[in-house]
Amino acid sequence: MIKFVIKQSEDEIAEEVALEVISKIKKNPRFVLGLATGTSPVLTYKKIISLAKKEQVSFKNVQTFNLDEYVDLKIKEQSYHYFMYENLFKDLDFNPLNTHFPLEEDPLAYDRLINKTGGIDLQILGIGQNSHIGFNEPGTEFSSWTHVVTLTEKTRLDNARFFPSLNDVPTQAITMGLKTIMEAKEIVLIILGSKEEALRQLSSLKVNPLHPASILHNHPNIKLYTTKDLYQKAQSIK
Ligand code: GLP
Repeated sequence: MIKFVIKQSEDEIAEEVALEVISKIKKNPRFVLGLATGTSPVLTYKKIISLAKKEQVSFKNVQTFNLDEYVDLKIKEQSYHYFMYENLFKDLDFNPLNTHFPLEEDPLAYDRLINKTGGIDLQILGIGQNSHIGFNEPGTEFSSWTHVVTLTEKTRLDNARFFPSLNDVPTQAITMGLKTIMEAKEIVLIILGSKEEALRQLSSLKVNPLHPASILHNHPNIKLYTTKDLYQKAQSIK
């Protein structure tokens, strides 16, 4: 069952999630953290950086697993590796050997590696306008492990804002599967931006493969963070 946490602002969301992450890493320096890209978690990453610096929390033994990565990317600066480096890794003492991304050559090796580290303690998630999580597009099997996907035109259009043109947006990506995500011990889903439709779907409590994020209703320990404004917008959709 998803626990909804509704805040006044994006800043309050970022502050609360960052505090939670930092306090868990203080307790367990070998914490296993699942990470997401996109604009929604960026402020949270900023707050994690400032809190970690203030409280001198080391990330050198933290293992990270990113949700997804593009396949056949022509411009290195558009990769999720690069995004994470710019928005989080470069400002803290992460060991590059501990920051993991899925590789298309052997997708299932990612699940094996996650298992070997003891599993993801906390997975940070964003959501696509079409309710995708990671790059698990509508119709993805709930039993899926890490796999290569063909992106929908909707997702390519949504993500074109990060590329010089739509033609530059890859057609494929590799993503943790829905089962991989559901195996995380705890999940924090941050919903910000033009996501009222995805949020409305999640408010309905129905689990439906056409709305991949709806599987999260079956997770035992998940919090959904959103703003009051966005929540009200979602409620007003008929
Ligand atoms: C991409 C990523 C998702 C992310 C989504 C939303 O499609 N693969 O993991 O949740 O974008 O991004 P944003 O937060 O920028 O709306």
